[in-house]
Amino acid sequence: EKGGFSSFMDKEIHDQPHAVADTLLGRTDPSGKLVLDDLRIDEAVLRSVDKIIVVACGTAAYSGHVAKYAIEHWCRIPVEVELAHEFRYRDPIVDEKTLVVAVTQSGETMDTLMAVRHAREQGAKVISIVNTHGSTIPRESDAVLYTHAGPEIAVASTKAFLSQITAAYLLGLYLAQLRGNKFPDEISAILEDLRDMPRKIQTVIERGEYVRATARSMKDAKSVLFLGRHVGFPVALEGALKLKELAYIHAEGFAAGELKHGPIALIDEGQPVFVVVPSPKGREGLHSKVISNIQEIRARGARTLVIAEDGDDAVRPYADEIFWIPESATLLSPLLAVVPLQIFAMALATAKGLDVDQPRNLAKSVTVE
Ligand code: F6R
Repeated sequence: EKGGFSSFMDKEIHDQPHAVADTLLGRTDPSGKLVLDDLRIDEAVLRSVDKIIVVACGTAAYSGHVAKYAIEHWCRIPVEVELAHEFRYRDPIVDEKTLVVAVTQSGETMDTLMAVRHAREQGAKVISIVNTHGSTIPRESDAVLYTHAGPEIAVASTKAFLSQITAAYLLGLYLAQLRGNKFPDEISAILEDLRDMPRKIQTVIERGEYVRATARSMKDAKSVLFLGRHVGFPVALEGALKLKELAYIHAEGFAAGELKHGPIALIDEGQPVFVVVPSPKGREGLHSKVISNIQEIRARGARTLVIAEDGDDAVRPYADEIFWIPESATLLSPLLAVVPLQIFAMALATAKGLDVDQPRNLAKSVTVE
């Protein structure tokens, strides 16, 4: 059932191009218009939404954090991302014009379920983005958008994360279409780019041996830091989470801009730091800011492990290792940039002789509060 792979996690990483492609499948009509058939919420209600709150835990919450950048950009609706267990106890401001989006692989996470119930009691509409059919959260939501990643067996989430981002992007584009925030041809162009992502994800996976070799050389690392900006920030958080849960190494993700506000004090000789570098062709100033961050930490002795876009020669002078990813629109880049981080965590854990499918103390679905 592992299909010749050494672990379910390895198989699921290799499933990712399919997970994304299948999540995109059948979402447009013959004219190219985005149709989300399972989204049974009145269009007038969706047009009147004035705030979106994503509720989720762990990796699913990071997918929401990525989606926030895209949905706000495309729809001009404010998006908050809140850990489901914090949401409930905060007395959140939620009403009929709030759309709550619950993201969950298992569909059973108790904290997320309680957040869904709380939101509906306040009159909000809830759409859940769920991977597991027949689970509880979709039954308690107003509508569901299924991710089609297939069953995820390994405790650490990989392909579900990519398909959650994909589904949340579909939702964002659908809302933009419905509310007239984007021209139909702009939406088609983004969908076209999304449909090209599975091929690029496959390329990143095929480049995995260099990542694995680097991970094997780092099996005695005591702490690894991860930096990113914009959509690279939640990618950094996810990279750190994967490393903690699989390799039991202290790992922390930061927004690169926070460095000088504290975390840079952690940098000393040989400290490994992953840096997710945005596309040089993306938003003005973003790329050069991250390059300066790499310079700053390198000057203080950090060992820099850089994820950069093919052809980005500006990173070369400051990178100890470079993991190249294909070119993509900035908003789509998390689907590529996270893959080397997943492979790194898996390979480092394997080098330490750990069980990557079943890390200690963790359960696949957390059905207690
Ligand atoms: C991390 C991981 C967890 C889950 C979290 C939410 O690899 O697997 O952080 O993402 O427990 O689970 P779901 O998505 O089932 O609600």
